Amino acid sequence: MADATDPLDAGERLGPEELRALQLKRLRASLRHAYDNVPFYRSAFDGAGVRPEDCRSLADLAHFPFTTKADLRENYPYGMFAVPRERIRRLHASSGTTGRPTVVGYTDGDLSLWADMVARSIRAAGGRPGDVVHVAYGYGLFTGGLGAHYGAERLGCTVVPASGGMTARQVQLIQDLRPAVIMVTPSYMLTLLDEFERQGVDPRGTSLRVGVFGAEPWTERMRREIEERFAIDAVDIYGLSEVIGPGVAQECVETKDGLTVWEDHFYPEVVDPITGEVLPEGEQGELVFTSLTKEAMPIVRYRTRDLTRLLPGTARVFRRMEKVTGRSDDMVILRGVNLFPTQIEEIVLRTPGVAPHFQLCLTREGRLDALTVRAEARPGATPEVREEAARAIVAGVKDGIGVSVAVEIVEPESLERSVGKIRRIVDLRPR
Ligand code: DLL
Repeated sequence: MADATDPLDAGERLGPEELRALQLKRLRASLRHAYDNVPFYRSAFDGAGVRPEDCRSLADLAHFPFTTKADLRENYPYGMFAVPRERIRRLHASSGTTGRPTVVGYTDGDLSLWADMVARSIRAAGGRPGDVVHVAYGYGLFTGGLGAHYGAERLGCTVVPASGGMTARQVQLIQDLRPAVIMVTPSYMLTLLDEFERQGVDPRGTSLRVGVFGAEPWTERMRREIEERFAIDAVDIYGLSEVIGPGVAQECVETKDGLTVWEDHFYPEVVDPITGEVLPEGEQGELVFTSLTKEAMPIVRYRTRDLTRLLPGTARVFRRMEKVTGRSDDMVILRGVNLFPTQIEEIVLRTPGVAPHFQLCLTREGRLDALTVRAEARPGATPEVREEAARAIVAGVKDGIGVSVAVEIVEPESLERSVGKIRRIVDLRPR
């Protein structure tokens, strides 16, 4: 698809009106496909008193019912598929913290669309045909590894399917195979950083030019940390299994101003998480996606639980979404104040003397929840520096978020390292 002389593909070159017309046409076809072939959608639409043909404008989508993770679980494993099982070429599954996983399926056409979207994403990130791409997202049921892999191949890159783990060997591979692009979770990139340092290899001296980081929330501070320590451009990639996997939205390297949503295939809305009402552009709420061209598992108004806002396009005709603040599930409510791990990340990363590794421990004291931020000292940080860091984090949280927390500065290398998606919250509250 992308070639070196013509950086944008046909979808990216649409004009704004052409785009809206194409979206409406695809939306109507996709609603029809879901209604005709998935009993779940047929009864949900009937229950809400809407038919696919009632969608006459993009705004009419708001009349259609939402789909939630619980709906996918109830229809486990194959109930959401709109094509016979024999046409499903691949399955992926997201682990889910409790109970049944969610299974998603792809036809040949879906796999091809997915590869196109990831290829488009890597190109927007600054990767080019001919680059070596090191993929350190996990391979397997998780969509990260294989999603990145086929996208990089589609772009015409040389792929190193490193997957997650065996960190020492990853550092060796990066030195020997000389990748220009790395695709990995930002938290695992920090684990790799430690390993470079442990081996005495200068992380700024590698062949890497670009990092494509996603699968978990990360902040502008983390971008700066990674860019400085590795001397690369760090850009954000977003996606979720239920919609397709990585490659739903991608930050463009030339602007680094939030993620361009590939909305010629994945139609975004932002809704009030409580009322479900569609919010105007620029207002923060829960991100909702409707697939426009998927075959095996069309998805209608899927509630992602990710919090962000939609913004006008800059580098592309498509709208952008702001970096995801967090998932509503990861929000901690502490004495009435809402707090996201990303807010703590901002504070920890600007504090001298502590490394970019931290955990949030939730406990209960009497009837109230309490939060302890455990942050790791940088090697060589003196007791005075550590005390000062603890004070700065307490004050930063109090001033910035408005709530009191305890801070524990722990020894270097004592917190568990990520090999994939990091879990920031350690919940020690009694059940
Ligand atoms: O994490 C797909 C992916 C793989 C995206 C590799 C990017 C890179 P799931 O395992 O289904 O799929 O988890 C999806 O992860 O709803 C968000 O909460 C979170 N997430 C994904 N990308 C980002 C990001 C993959 N860039 C869930 N920023 C989503 C913040 C992200 N959160």
